[in-house]
Amino acid sequence: MPKSVLILFAHPSYARSRANRALRSVAQDRALRSVAQDREHVTVHDLYETYPNFLIDVEAEQRLLLDHDHIVLMHPLFWYSAPSLVKEWLDVVLDYGWAYGEGGTALAGKTWTQVITAGGPEKSYCSDGLNRFSIDELLRPFQATANLCQCVWQAPFVLHASRQATPEILAEAAAKFSALLEGLIDG
Ligand SMILES: Cc1cc2nc3c(=O)[nH]c(=O)nc-3n(C[C@H](O)[C@H](O)[C@H](O)COP(=O)(O)O)c2cc1C
Repeated sequence: MPKSVLILFAHPSYARSRANRALRSVAQDRALRSVAQDREHVTVHDLYETYPNFLIDVEAEQRLLLDHDHIVLMHPLFWYSAPSLVKEWLDVVLDYGWAYGEGGTALAGKTWTQVITAGGPEKSYCSDGLNRFSIDELLRPFQATANLCQCVWQAPFVLHASRQATPEILAEAAAKFSALLEGLIDG
């Protein structure tokens, strides 16, 4: 039985995006194909487009989460974390008694995958590199959140040196992301 994937997409200046645009287009094509097959396996949900004023419809978000097996958070790395709407989303959507705490098991068993583009090259993300910490270390708050919500944390997908990425590199990253998506759908 194919699984469904919810892509929570967050980019505050998507009109200028190259890296996320390349990755998102793969997901959008896949979403269109699944609609054509009458089997909605992939939903791309653009948080900045939906909530330009940061007024998040918590019930609608929770319904979307319940309707999907896999959660993918896709965004550029901003200050070693995510764009601020993602933090707001986490704060208001992952409610006590729903996502965690007493009776909070709504997300139990769903996978959680972070799909990130980073301006810094891979070699800068280690203890003796410019950024001093690895991406895995920097993503610990997200991983801890996933753990508390009883989600299954997956290895993050990272496109490094995103601003220098050539069309070939973007195409290669898009193909890898496509394979990741198919893997999630096929379980
Ligand atoms: C406010 C801001 C903060 C950023 N912080 C980081 C960072 O902490 N680490 C990093 O590697 N790149 C950082 N970048 C670079 C972005 O990650 C990069 O511009 C993005 O991945 C490019 O993707 P796009 O083509 O989809 O916009 C930052 C960019 C902005 C605008």
